[in-house]
Amino acid sequence: MVPAGLSDGAVELAPGVHWVGALDPHLRNFDIILKTANGTSYNSYVVRGSKGVAVIDTVKENYADTFFRRLESVARYDEITTIVLNHLEPDHSGALPELLRRAPQAKVYLSSRAQMMLKALLKPSESQPPDYTPVTTGDQVSLGDRTLRFLHTPYLHWPDTQCTYLVEDGMLFSGDIFGCHFCDPRLFNDLSGDFRFSFEYYYQHIMRPFREHVLDAVALIEPLKLELIAPAHGPILRHQPRDYVLRYRELATPRLCNEARSEKTLVVFYLSAYGNTRLMAESIAEGAERLGGVRVSLYDLEGGDPDGFTDLVEEADGLAIGSPTINADAVKPIWDLLSSLTSVNIKGKLGVAFGSYGWSGEAVRLIEDRLRGLKMRVPVEGLRVKLVPALDELDHCRDLGEKVARHLTGQVENRVIDMSELVG
Ligand code: FEO
Repeated sequence: MVPAGLSDGAVELAPGVHWVGALDPHLRNFDIILKTANGTSYNSYVVRGSKGVAVIDTVKENYADTFFRRLESVARYDEITTIVLNHLEPDHSGALPELLRRAPQAKVYLSSRAQMMLKALLKPSESQPPDYTPVTTGDQVSLGDRTLRFLHTPYLHWPDTQCTYLVEDGMLFSGDIFGCHFCDPRLFNDLSGDFRFSFEYYYQHIMRPFREHVLDAVALIEPLKLELIAPAHGPILRHQPRDYVLRYRELATPRLCNEARSEKTLVVFYLSAYGNTRLMAESIAEGAERLGGVRVSLYDLEGGDPDGFTDLVEEADGLAIGSPTINADAVKPIWDLLSSLTSVNIKGKLGVAFGSYGWSGEAVRLIEDRLRGLKMRVPVEGLRVKLVPALDELDHCRDLGEKVARHLTGQVENRVIDMSELVG
């Protein structure tokens, strides 16, 4: 079932359209943080029209020789009129400087956000700056009897990303979106092994933080006639390609019913050594709910794996994080939770910290610093209570919860600034 010619040559997707990428079966980590259990592929494509040849993306630099061998099997360098850069991350642009040297007449098409990246990429090379044109949704390049049309799809997964649609053939060259790290020499989804795990894993770790952009891209792609999706990694989707678009829509669509309502959501996560931080958490939750318009969920992290809470965090409007201070720090499950948040977009969500302490009480400030580092809003100062919260301190917790609710619901009273605050 291995396509003929895979070892050296290009693989045909349609007459005049070829895969000229490279396989990297032994890669086990991508970008340091992403596991790749069976390697990956760097997919590059060549489209031949009656008046020109286009190369869409290249490969990682150390696979350039393979790429050029495959490319040479279907096109001469002096035939290349067009180079499309859907994404400039080095796994797709590694062979670009050399390609520009070999085909200096080619015009480069890329998104406007990619221009600076292109200059930076070519800086260390001897390449002359190429003739490049920034493009956006609806812009087209003619290859004679074939047309490439561009779709502006930023953040999938860098700000520079775009997709390219081969109009006459209904083929979408999608870049990272709809791809996965799954190396299979059979190349096509109807021939390769079961890559569902890798497809979902890729979404969760690469695309999920940008789910609003995923939905924007899906809205652009859904109306297209789709015969095939040719992503930048993993199997080429020629069997039921639309299913993969629908799956992306499902994955990126909010799931909690309250997102459809006007209610705001606050999730309170805490850990408690002696029950004191728990009492604070419960009072904060009570205070946040008494205002109305905020639905509060309370979670003791002792009873759960932080990774399992990602959905809640992604769809919450605010997070309250409570930790006792032990050894001058917040406790490890809190840091585990906070580090798991890098896979979702929490920028701009409201964050607040609280906790009981015995001696020094650093946890609250440290958590606040981390929340700010994650680009969350921290408009309400956190609350620390020494050991067992007294009744008036639990009232302070309720007040804190109410303040948070006011911020979430936009009921914050304008602060009246005393003129005396402005002098001195
Ligand atoms: Fe496959 Fe974002 O590079």
